[in-house]
Amino acid sequence: MRGDQTAAWQGLATLAKDFSSFDLRTAFASDAGRAAHFSQEAPGVFADLSKNHWDAKIEAQLLALATQAGVLSHRDRMFQGEAINATEQRAVMHWLLRHPAQGAAADALPVAVKSCLKDVHETLNAMLAYAEKIRSDADITDVVNIGIGGSDLGPQMAVMALQSYAVKGKRFHFVSNVDGHELDAVLKGLKADNTLFLVASKTFTTLETMTNALSAKRWFEAQGGTDVARHFAALTTNVAAAAEFGITTTFGFWDWVGGRYSMWSAIGLPVAIAIGAQGFKDLLAGAHAMDQHFQTAPLEANLPVRLGLLDVWYRNFLNYTSRSIAPYHSALRRVPAYLQQLEMESNGKRVDRNGHALPYGTSPVLWGEPGTNGQHAYFQMLHQGTDIVPLEFIAVKKPTHSLKDHHELLLANVIAQAQALMQGKSDAGGHKHFTGNRPSTFLLLDELTPASLGALIALQEHRVFVSGSVWGINSFDQWGVELG
Ligand code: F6P
Repeated sequence: MRGDQTAAWQGLATLAKDFSSFDLRTAFASDAGRAAHFSQEAPGVFADLSKNHWDAKIEAQLLALATQAGVLSHRDRMFQGEAINATEQRAVMHWLLRHPAQGAAADALPVAVKSCLKDVHETLNAMLAYAEKIRSDADITDVVNIGIGGSDLGPQMAVMALQSYAVKGKRFHFVSNVDGHELDAVLKGLKADNTLFLVASKTFTTLETMTNALSAKRWFEAQGGTDVARHFAALTTNVAAAAEFGITTTFGFWDWVGGRYSMWSAIGLPVAIAIGAQGFKDLLAGAHAMDQHFQTAPLEANLPVRLGLLDVWYRNFLNYTSRSIAPYHSALRRVPAYLQQLEMESNGKRVDRNGHALPYGTSPVLWGEPGTNGQHAYFQMLHQGTDIVPLEFIAVKKPTHSLKDHHELLLANVIAQAQALMQGKSDAGGHKHFTGNRPSTFLLLDELTPASLGALIALQEHRVFVSGSVWGINSFDQWGVELG
């Protein structure tokens, strides 16, 4: 049932009417258990949701909304491999890309899904063997990923995030834009003999990628390069088109993997080259742990469910139209861009699954920059602007560098920002008055590892699933991008 047709939706509308008097400071003062109630561990991630504009009563009504809207049966249909992407008649099985090949859970999969799992692991093993070969090939010093959207943002984000695990002696470049300045700048620093081009395109038809790939091939040949088979590989569901292009080394994936959900597939090859086969397996394992959490944790302790429901509350009942992402870790600097595609391409929809126009808002606008940089730019608006923008902090306890003082200062900043947003500061004079009561979510990783990154990203995928499911939309097509 679409969210707005449930009794819980009406209940939330009533609760929202009384909500203008809600104040985070009063909520904490009157409930000693608030921090504990709204904090939880999930695989790889600790979350503190207590500084948000909600209370236990609202959360209970949101959980009822999830139940009444059938979010769980929708989730289970995804994990059974049903074609829930109805407008493209496709299953939605990016989760299968990180599923162990064997064991009780694998045995319990429907027969058709099990056969996909076999293909997944065959391709994964071949791709990881290739990644290891490239890692030990000292002649390859530069890896250039040519792809756009889901064929760029995921691997780019992950290679940057895991730079401290990356193999030494190789540089990674990501070229996405059809604007030739981007490719040109990269090519200027390369030697044909030392370069591996990865042409990453689910469809192998995307204008930007094909234009860049063709130019890369022309450049390679103009430099005297002859061995295309050694210096080009393709990551695609369209193996035939890659062959026609002249690429013989191809790693495939399947139409049940959406572009923005594809970093776990062959599209992750640059990540596997950077962090190695074991590192990539750890990334998958972290994501799989989050899949299991999403499938089995009770609703009230299910982090993707709680986050997705909070998103619905904010968007539809408090009319907060955007969410700002602030990773306090410079290696996570592409996470906001990655999440923009994940959320806005998935849930930026105006009709429900039956094609009926929706009477309520769907995807919020996502935006953000790493902290502390954002503090010296747009945080002014977050602290004192007229719009309330819920902020999502992502912090990491342990640094991977040993420079004195930096990490303490960084963490002090992120904690202080959340505190200042909530507490505000009084100044009767006006301009230095901060109303406070500004909401934020705090996600904390112990360390930024392949496993914790996998968990963090899978968490975000599933939270987008939950809000999209309540909104009754198909989160897995992208007709708007295709028209554009
Ligand atoms: O049309 C949208 C889209 O398919 C995105 O979902 C995807 O990330 C991007 O375009 C790139 O497409 P491809 O991988 O097929 O080149």
